[in-house]
Amino acid sequence: MLKIIVFIIFMVRAVLVKGEPKVPCFFIFGDSLSEVGNNNNLVTMAKANYPPYGVDFPGGVPTGRFTNNRTIEDYISTYLGFNKSIAPYRDQMGQDILRGVNFASGSAGILMETGSQLGDRIWLDRQIRNYMMTILRIQFMVFGPVSNYLNKCLYTVNIGSNDYLNNYFMPQYYPSQRLYTPDQYANLLISRYRSQLRTLYNTGARMVAIFGLGNLGCVPSQIMRNNATDCVDEINQAANLFNTKLESLVDELNARLPGAQFTLISLSALQALSPLPEAINSNSTCCTLRSDFQCEPNSTPCANRDLYAFFDGFHPTDVVNEAVAEAAYSSPDRRIANPMNINELTSSQQGKATYY
Ligand SMILES: *[C@@H]1O[C@H](CO)[C@@H](O)[C@H](O)[C@H]1NC(C)=O
Ligand SMILES: *[C@@H]1O[C@H](CO)[C@@H](O)[C@H](O)[C@H]1NC(C)=O
Ligand SMILES: *[C@@H]1O[C@H](CO)[C@@H](O)[C@H](O)[C@H]1NC(C)=O
Ligand SMILES: *[C@@H]1O[C@H](CO)[C@@H](O)[C@H](O)[C@H]1NC(C)=O
Repeated sequence: MLKIIVFIIFMVRAVLVKGEPKVPCFFIFGDSLSEVGNNNNLVTMAKANYPPYGVDFPGGVPTGRFTNNRTIEDYISTYLGFNKSIAPYRDQMGQDILRGVNFASGSAGILMETGSQLGDRIWLDRQIRNYMMTILRIQFMVFGPVSNYLNKCLYTVNIGSNDYLNNYFMPQYYPSQRLYTPDQYANLLISRYRSQLRTLYNTGARMVAIFGLGNLGCVPSQIMRNNATDCVDEINQAANLFNTKLESLVDELNARLPGAQFTLISLSALQALSPLPEAINSNSTCCTLRSDFQCEPNSTPCANRDLYAFFDGFHPTDVVNEAVAEAAYSSPDRRIANPMNINELTSSQQGKATYY
């Protein structure tokens, strides 16, 4: 009899474990690298809900993703066992918010004014306000304090590129380069970022993966804008100052905040340590560019998307997003994922979710 009961319990558990993702929920903050459609109804040039974006997406649908198919976080959701991608805040429905929400917005930055020359955007403080609205609703759907639910969720934050590309390095629109040296500007961004990340922690977030900046000076739009033939060192150096300070910030948050598990995914280290195969073209873009370096609407993209690193003048193709997600999720190299990768992060104590 006992054997049979134990067997049944085992069966029920096996079924639950099979159907459920590794963490119950995944919250996503960031810019166009992570967006899945939050800007579609905003008045801005920074949106990707027109062809050829999404050319490889099921049905060829341009959803608002700034790439030909999946984002980095789409891949991470799959690795975690979610059966569909995390929906944008603007489309969130009913109980779905229990699985997580994507708050990311193209052209958004750590600073409010970043990206404003392109139009409206949901800057990081606004994304956090939307998150607060979401958790007020979640509170009514879970037993016990909402923080006990949120501390089982994965959070990713991938932001900061626009604070350079659509702010500091656009002196014709923004005063920041006249007001701050690159070092002072990085300090300003990090001090804002510190308080934003602490706010997430205070709601109950514990497992938080932060993405550092890639080599922004090597992005095609920046090479073209500067009439350069190779990476723009000045931009890479400014981004690297930020990256170095971000490393210290992650260490500091882990040391000071009890139970915090922040981890840093270094895109610049990934680019240095695992360069793309020679066969992948990093010099030109897959789509034909508009004057703002996004794809020309309805233009025909390159035939083989897998052979290009960049889909438009800023954004990587699906293959590159896959390589980044794969490294973020499972790289054992501490220069790339420090102090742990996302698989390790979500296997930690808080990650052992009890399903409701
Ligand atoms: C695009 O992504 C979907 C998953 O959302 C996948 O099934 C499909 O194979 C991908 N398309 C291409 C051409 O890679
Ligand atoms: C995805 O999983 C959830 C929860 O396990 C389930 O309710 C939903 O029906 C599944 N959706 C699909 C498309 O399989
Ligand atoms: C690049 O070249 C264009 C056209 O010759 C010129 O208008 C622009 O000022 C140049 N930009 C830089 C950063 O030198
Ligand atoms: C691409 O750029 C690299 C340096 O970034 C250069 O060595 C290479 O010759 C370029 N290739 C083409 C086809 O322009």
